[in-house]
Amino acid sequence: MKYDYHCTVSRRGFLAALAGAAMSASLPPARASAVDERRIKVAPGEARFSGEDGPPAWTYNGTMPGPALRLRQGQPVRITVENGLDEDTTVHWHGIRLPNAMDGVPGLTQPPIKPGESFVYEFTPPDAGTFWYHPHADSLVQLGRGLAGLLIVEEAEPAAFDRDLFWLLQDWRLTKDGQIAGGFGNMMDASMSGRVGNLVTINSTVPADLGVRAGERLRLRLVNASLARMMALRFEGHRPVVLAIDGQPCDPHEPEDGRLVLAPAMRIDIVLDMRGDPGSRHAVIDDFYDGLAYTLTNLAYDKAFPFRSHPLDAPLALPRNPLPEPALANAVRQEVVLQGGMMGGGKLASVGGMMGMGMPGMNGGAAWAINGMSMTGDGHAGMAPQFTLERGATCHLTIRNETAWWHPMHIHGFSLSVLSRNGATVPHRQWQDTVLLAPKDVIECAFVADNPGNWMLHCHVADHQMAGLMTVFRAT
Ligand code: C2O
Ligand code: CU
Ligand code: CU
Repeated sequence: MKYDYHCTVSRRGFLAALAGAAMSASLPPARASAVDERRIKVAPGEARFSGEDGPPAWTYNGTMPGPALRLRQGQPVRITVENGLDEDTTVHWHGIRLPNAMDGVPGLTQPPIKPGESFVYEFTPPDAGTFWYHPHADSLVQLGRGLAGLLIVEEAEPAAFDRDLFWLLQDWRLTKDGQIAGGFGNMMDASMSGRVGNLVTINSTVPADLGVRAGERLRLRLVNASLARMMALRFEGHRPVVLAIDGQPCDPHEPEDGRLVLAPAMRIDIVLDMRGDPGSRHAVIDDFYDGLAYTLTNLAYDKAFPFRSHPLDAPLALPRNPLPEPALANAVRQEVVLQGGMMGGGKLASVGGMMGMGMPGMNGGAAWAINGMSMTGDGHAGMAPQFTLERGATCHLTIRNETAWWHPMHIHGFSLSVLSRNGATVPHRQWQDTVLLAPKDVIECAFVADNPGNWMLHCHVADHQMAGLMTVFRAT
């Protein structure tokens, strides 16, 4: 069967839309009620990093990254995912506050999608913003072989930018002959920094200069879809302003030292006013790791006259999403302690009561723990919740990193209001689904348990997740 690689409205969706239109002839377009139908096929393909033939990889709809899904806030969507791989998969809609059964965690929220089978995901995105989707089965290998796509939920009123761009950033470990290296989940990666690679791409392509015009105002959606690589981007000669983090608008602000820190799974939306001179060129540098700074790409100004003669006014904040406000006075307190990993000297930190420690870090073994317990893999049936929250209760969550490594901790089904880091208040009203902890950091955050189900909380360094830095909690 020839597969249609474009996201089109199916016949069923088309008929539904027609019916909707007929019934509401005197009303404005029935957009909010019509179901948006999409199809995604997961299948082997190629990674065309340089535009030409590339190594074998796994793809969504034959493209890499997968198709950028543009959904509308409050409009139901139905996405049929067909598995053309010869192993199980699922799709997780990272950051979307959706019903638990649609969350894509095999064993925990749905049966895995077997080879040749399909699963229909249905949800209504409550929040506008920048999200992404990826598998939650054999996560390390499937993400590492290329399965990832952007998911944009559009604001009801389009915001005023000259261009709306995205950079889905990925990090690849390639062999000398340009193949995606095997050896996923080895003990070194699992118990240390994770599988950091040797090629960073933008939208799955070796970065070329980004052509810009003096005076333009860009919205740039940054997504770190790497397995393990942390990034800290600086735009030389420019002053990016952060508009949203993990899809959730914050008070617009310039980042500390002009560095945009993006750990795996994090998103940052910035507004970038092109203040350079026509014909000039400015580097975009990633200097997260000491001594390993590199130029990711360059902003290359067209020689033409400025796009507009006067710079625009201060950027406007994006409209806030309908997040429930935590009631801190009556909050239930929970603590999550991150433990394990390599301490130096080749020793794994010992963790009292750590389960499944047979072969530390070896394929499926545990190298990490949360509160003394190691859940390994992608999620599976029978994972006992670490804690249970009553529906509607506010949870005041402390995350304490007792390890010597960085961990972007990700919560499913909710967004966290980040209160403080090492005792200092976090400014700019930041809500995040992925919170980065430096070694020994303590973070306080809060959320309202308004979304029932068994939810994951895990490190998004894929090797760490697979090797035990994962837990489950329940909202009733
Ligand atoms: Cu982006 Cu549990 O995942
Ligand atoms: Cu997620
Ligand atoms: Cu981690």
